[in-house]
Parts: sequence; structure tokens; C-alpha cells
Amino acid sequence: MTRKHIADVVIIGSGIAALIAADRLSYHKNVIVITKSKKENSNSSRAQGGVAVALSRNDHWSNHFSDTMVAGNFHNDEEAVETLVQRGPELLRGLIEKGMSFDKDASGHLVLGQEGAHGMRRILHAGGDATGKALVDFLLNRLRTNSKVKIIEDMLVVDLLVKENHCFGVKVKTNSGKTETIYSMYTILAAGGSGGLYSFTSNDPTVTGDGISLAYRAGANLVDLEFVQFHPTLLYIKGEVKGLISEAVRGEGAVLVTKGGNRLMRGIHPQEDLAPRDVVSREINRAVLNGEQIFLDISMIKEFKKRFPTITELCEENGIDLTLGKIPVVPGAHFHMGGVEVNKQGQTSVEHLYAIGEVACTGVHGANRLASNSLLEGIVFANELAAHLAFEHPDDFEIPSILSDVRRINELQLPEKEEIKAVMMKYVGIVRDETGLQTAREWLEQYLPIDNTNFDSEALTHEQIGIYNMLQAAWLITTSALLREESRGGHYRSDFPEEEANWTKKKIVRNCHVPAHSA
Ligand code: SIN
Repeated sequence: MTRKHIADVVIIGSGIAALIAADRLSYHKNVIVITKSKKENSNSSRAQGGVAVALSRNDHWSNHFSDTMVAGNFHNDEEAVETLVQRGPELLRGLIEKGMSFDKDASGHLVLGQEGAHGMRRILHAGGDATGKALVDFLLNRLRTNSKVKIIEDMLVVDLLVKENHCFGVKVKTNSGKTETIYSMYTILAAGGSGGLYSFTSNDPTVTGDGISLAYRAGANLVDLEFVQFHPTLLYIKGEVKGLISEAVRGEGAVLVTKGGNRLMRGIHPQEDLAPRDVVSREINRAVLNGEQIFLDISMIKEFKKRFPTITELCEENGIDLTLGKIPVVPGAHFHMGGVEVNKQGQTSVEHLYAIGEVACTGVHGANRLASNSLLEGIVFANELAAHLAFEHPDDFEIPSILSDVRRINELQLPEKEEIKAVMMKYVGIVRDETGLQTAREWLEQYLPIDNTNFDSEALTHEQIGIYNMLQAAWLITTSALLREESRGGHYRSDFPEEEANWTKKKIVRNCHVPAHSA
């Protein structure tokens, strides 16, 4: 018999948004945090860059607002951006008061870093280039002794339990293959992004678009899925990427060069090496397709090893001699601007289902995220959601008898994960066009069962469910990319090359709840 549990709140995922929400909500509610692998496996833990926040005396939230809007190609939701940049300073001060420690100079002042498309230094770091890990460790440490929060590792969420557009919890599969049900008054998706759908990515390998797929099957609105940010500089060794080389390295003066030492970004954009990520990624991509190898020249950075200990370790582990001053790089999928459509409190279009962090789309990032705004987004919108839910008590919480129709899929034909990643990289990557997108969609559709909404998890392994979610998320991104016939930020169509006059003014708003492909 299937085991059943009941919680006030279930949170899916263990990145910064999930942990902040759990911490804040635990004053009012019992919380279960579920993660499909270990609690440290998240993009938050890997974030090197930092937290962008207008804390310096010379700065003001309105400057941070403008930089966020310009980076987002004005596709951003202005109210969401205001919330982000206005709430950020006080929430960061609050974390510091609770004991979170960011890097300081010899006189005890916070050190503020520079990153691409920021008009001034405003990035907080911890451990040099280990900011995400420091924040996650700090939060996990707080939760360790919190009896109101239970963190369950190695548990896969198979489906959200939804009836009549109301979410009642989750169906999960344990590591031993048992299916269980966790009923909850409120369910929060904080499952991260989708970088793992691509061969080259900075993301944790577990981050493969599960959240989008779960929300889609639950009938939630999805929006802006075509906007995928490629980070320009991932360490590239013998045809494989090995990890992120933070933009903060270029912030400290590093430049992109060809093998012959020519500056790649000269004459391409006024901000040169600190141009928006989509511009830099496209330029590296173009050079690589022309047979060039591109390097980050770091020779001018003093005390590189001290400022960037994580990157130093990564390079040394992979046989790079940093005294030569050059790191080979390629772009890779980094951040998903689109996701599950939510309001500022994280409410999705399904009642009692919320989403925060990278899986959610408040519209705050527009078509392209500004560097170091993602940890900030997690902190700010998890707090907004917690403040909203803290005193909510549904008096009508009654578990319905049958929650969802499960169609049995007995013979799923599934490709290898690497095949999906290769198709996405080639056709739905940095540069797209209609022919390539159609090719990708047809390829994906041969594996997606016709007329399917849910599937019988008993019959499928964790691996199969993961691949199925990847196919579904990849199909949704591809379909959205076909629908948007323009180039803007993280969505570049070579058949609709960008016209600056358009994308700085025109704002296309579309709730892209993509219909099932069999419809
Ligand atoms: C980086 O360190 O370059 C990544 C930071 C970010 O994506 O915000």
C-alpha cells in the first residue's frame, strides 16, 4: 500500500530560494523539503559570482534597476524589478546580522565586485568565488537544528497532485523505488532551471528542467521559456566543459583573446569584454565555429589565486598552468529566464501551487539576466512568498478521493540523455532558426507519447522519469523558441536578426502555455 504523509508546506528543491523559504516559513508552519539528490546539489551551491545589491554609499536601487532593465532588453516586469532592487539591501543586511559573512577588506568594509553590464561595483562575495556555497552552508546550518523543517534527500517528485486546478501535494518515488504521497496545504516548486538539457552547461548535473515539466503536467501557465542565458566562459578541455569561470574574472580585468592574442570583443560592443552575456557568447560561438580557440587572458590580475580560489582549484585539477595566464573557454547554458508564471508572491495559475527561484518567472530578468541577480532573486522572492503564506490557513483543506487520471505508458521509447543535450545544443542553443527548431521539435516528438498528461510512475525508473522530464522541458523550450519570431536577449533567431530599435521599445508579453503536441 502507498504510504501517505501530511505537511503544511512541501518545498521541491534545495537551492537558496528553497532554504530561505523553509527558514522563514518554519516560524509558522511545518515544512518538508524534498530533493532528488543531495541537499548540496543545486545551482545555488555552485554560484561563484555573488549577490548584486545596491549597498554602497555611491549606489542607489534606481541604478541597479536601470542596469537590470537594460540587461533584460526591457522585457522585464518593472514592478518585479523594483521589488528585487528595493528589498535586496535590507534583506542582505538582515542575513549579515544573522551571521552570514561576506568578504571584507583590511579595514572591515564589504568588498564590492564588478561584473558585466553593471554600471558600478555592487557585487557581494563570500570565500572569494564561493558565494553560493557559503550562503547554502549558512542556511543549511541554521536549518540543521530546526525541528519544524525536515529535509528529505534522494526522493524524486514524480508528479504534483492536482484536482480541479488545486494542488494538494506531491507524488514521490523513494530511492528504493517505492511510490509515496505527501499531501500539503501549500506546495512550492523551487526545483531550479534547465541548463542540464544542454551538452555545455555550468549547471549542477541534476538540474534538467524537472520543475517545468512537473508544472506543465499540473496545468500551470509557463512563460518566456525561449529565453535561455548562455554564460560566455566555461572552462573547456578536450571537447568538454569542466566548470564555470566567473564573469568576476573579466570584472577584474581579464579579456577574451584568440590563440594569436587578438582581442575578441574589440569593436564588437562598447562594453567590450563586459558586454551583455548573449553578445559575448555569440561572439565566442562565432569564433569557435570558424575554427578558433578562445582564451581568457588573466595575466593582468594580481593575486589571482587569492581572489579566485575555487577557479584556481578547478583549473589546476584540469591541468591548466595559471602562470601562463590563459584559460580556454566556451559558452554554455547557464540560466533560464523563463519558467512557471508567478506573481510577486510566487503564486502560479494553479491554486496552492507556488514557485520561486530559477524555475519561476516573475518577469524580473526579462530576456536576459543581469549578472549576480539570481541569488538575489532567490532571497527576495522567497521572502515575499514566506511573508504571504505565513498567516494563510486554508479552512477548506480536504484531500479529494481521486487526484489525477493516470494513463499507463507501458512501452516508453527513450533516447539517451546525451542525445537530448546534443540536439538542444545544436538547434536550440546560442543561435536558432526555424529550420533547426523544427528539426529539434520533430526529433523530440518521436519520443513523447501521444495524448499523455501523467504517467504511471510505478512502471518507470528514476532515470526514465528524469529523461521523460527532459524531453518534455526540451519540447516546451523549443516550441516557445519557434513561437517568438524576433531576437531578444537570450533568444537569438538568425532568421529574425535583432533590430535594436524594436527590442528596446517593444515589449512582447505572452503567456506561453504551450498546448500538448498532440492537440
Ligand atoms: C558568474 O560568476 O559569472 C556567474 C554569476 C551569475 O550568473 O550571476
